[in-house]
Amino acid sequence: MTGVGIDAIEIRTGKLKLDLAETFAPAQGEDPGKYTKGLGLHASSFPDVYEDIVTMAANAAHRLMERKGLTPDDIGRIDVATESAFDNSKPVSTYVAGCLEEVYDDDFHHANKGERKFACIAGTQSLDDAFNWIRAGRNRGRAALVIATDTALYARDDPGEATQGAGAVAMLVDEDPDLVTFSTEQGFGSADETDFLKPNQQFPSVDGKRSVNVYLARMREALDDFAAQAGDLHPDDYAMVPFHTPFPGMVRKAAALGYRHIVRDTDVELALAEEIGRQPRPEEFKTREQYFDAMEEYTDELTETERYGDWYADSIEPTLSIAREVGNWYTGSVHVARAAGLKRSLEEGREMAGEQLLVASYGSGAQAEVHSETVQPGWREEIEALNVDEQIDDRYELSFEEYEQIHDVHNHDTETDVEEFTAPDGEFVFDGWGRMGERKYRYVR
Ligand code: COA
Repeated sequence: MTGVGIDAIEIRTGKLKLDLAETFAPAQGEDPGKYTKGLGLHASSFPDVYEDIVTMAANAAHRLMERKGLTPDDIGRIDVATESAFDNSKPVSTYVAGCLEEVYDDDFHHANKGERKFACIAGTQSLDDAFNWIRAGRNRGRAALVIATDTALYARDDPGEATQGAGAVAMLVDEDPDLVTFSTEQGFGSADETDFLKPNQQFPSVDGKRSVNVYLARMREALDDFAAQAGDLHPDDYAMVPFHTPFPGMVRKAAALGYRHIVRDTDVELALAEEIGRQPRPEEFKTREQYFDAMEEYTDELTETERYGDWYADSIEPTLSIAREVGNWYTGSVHVARAAGLKRSLEEGREMAGEQLLVASYGSGAQAEVHSETVQPGWREEIEALNVDEQIDDRYELSFEEYEQIHDVHNHDTETDVEEFTAPDGEFVFDGWGRMGERKYRYVR
C-alpha cells in the first residue's frame, strides 16, 4: 500500500474578531504586552450569531469537497473531534452530514460517523482512527473526512478568556495523499490529570498554570516514547515542528523543552557547550530543586543562542502565524499549526516535498502524542488553495461591548437577542431549534 495521510485541508474561522491588545486588554485593565509578547496573541476569532461548531465544520467540509470534486459516495467515514459538543448522545458528525446532504444529490447513509473526545488531542486521534481504518483495508476505496471544530470560550474574567477562539479544520484522509503521509511510529505520554475539564458544564474549569506544566511533562514522555521506536531524534531531521498551540507562548516553552531534550548527548549539545556549557545532569546536584534551577538557567541561556534562534525561526515560528490572529481552536489547533507552517514555506518559496514534520499534539486530562509526517509533492497546490488569509482579513471587528454580547449569545445559560454582525453568503447557518431540542441548519445561497 502507498502512504496514508492528509490529502486535503480546509480551515474555517469564526467570522468575528476581538483585538486583544487594542480592545480586550484596556477593558480588562491589563498591559497589551501580556497578549502580544507574553501569550503571543493579537486577536481571537468568535462565531457570529448564526455560526457554531456545526456550521464551521460543515462549511469547511463543503469547501473541501467542492475543491476536490468529491461527492458523498467518495466519503466512507465522518469523524468530528470537539470539546464543545452540545449533545451527549447525537454526534456532531450527524449534523454535519445533514448539512452537506442539503447541497448534494446523494446521501451519507453508507458512512460511519462518530465523535471523538479527549480535549485538544481528539483531532489527532481522529486522524489516527482514519489511518487505521484505511490501513486495515476496511475503507472500500473511500476516504475519511475528519473535522476538528470548537468554540473555545471561557467564563467571563477567567484567565483563559485571554486565549479564546473559534474555528474548524476539515481534513480528508486517504491513500496516496497530496499533502502529508503519517509515520506508523508514534509516541504517547498519557496520565490521569486534572488540569482542564468540563464536568457537564459549558465553560471549562481550568488550572491554567498546572495545564502548562502538564503539557510539558506529557510532551517529554511522548518524545521519549517516539524516539524509542523511531530512533534518536535530531533537530536537523525535521523541517518543522507543529505543536498544539493554545497560545504561541505555550509553544515557546514546549519548543525549548523539546529541543533541549532531543539534543542531549548529541553533536548539537557538544557544539553548544562551547558557549553555554553542557546540560546539567541530575547526578551533579544534591537536590532535585538545585537540578531544576540549573536546568531552568541552562534553558534560558539556550534560547538566547544563535543556533537555537535559527532553529526556532525555521522550525517553529512559521507554525504560529495563524494562531496569533485567531486564538485557541482546541482540537483544530495543531492542524492549524501544520497548515500555517506549510503556508509560510509556500510564501517564502521553500521546497517542502520530501521533508519531515514532527507533529506534537496535546490534550488536557492529559495526553501528548508525537508522530512524524512526510510532506508530499502535491503540498504546494493544496496549500495554495487555502483562503484563510482572506477569511481572517474579512472578519468583523468587535468593540468590547459587542464582544460581551456575542459571549452571551454563545453562552448556553443566557437568553439574548442580538442582531448578526455579518451577512451569511453561500454557507450553512444555524436556523433555530427543533421540537426535540435539536439544532437546525439551512444553507444560505
Ligand atoms: N509584557 C510581556 N509579557 C507579559 C506581560 C507584559 N506586559 N504581562 C504578562 N506577560 C507574560 C507573563 O510573564 C507570562 O509569560 P511566562 O509564562 O512566560 O512567564 C504570560 O505573559 C502570561 O501572563 P500570566 O500573568 O501568566 O497570564 P494569566 O495568569 O492570565 O494566565 C494562562 C495565562 C495561559 C495560564 C491562562 O490564559 C489560561 O488559563 N489559559 C487556558 C489554559 C491553557 O491554555 N493552558 C495551556 C495548556 S493546554
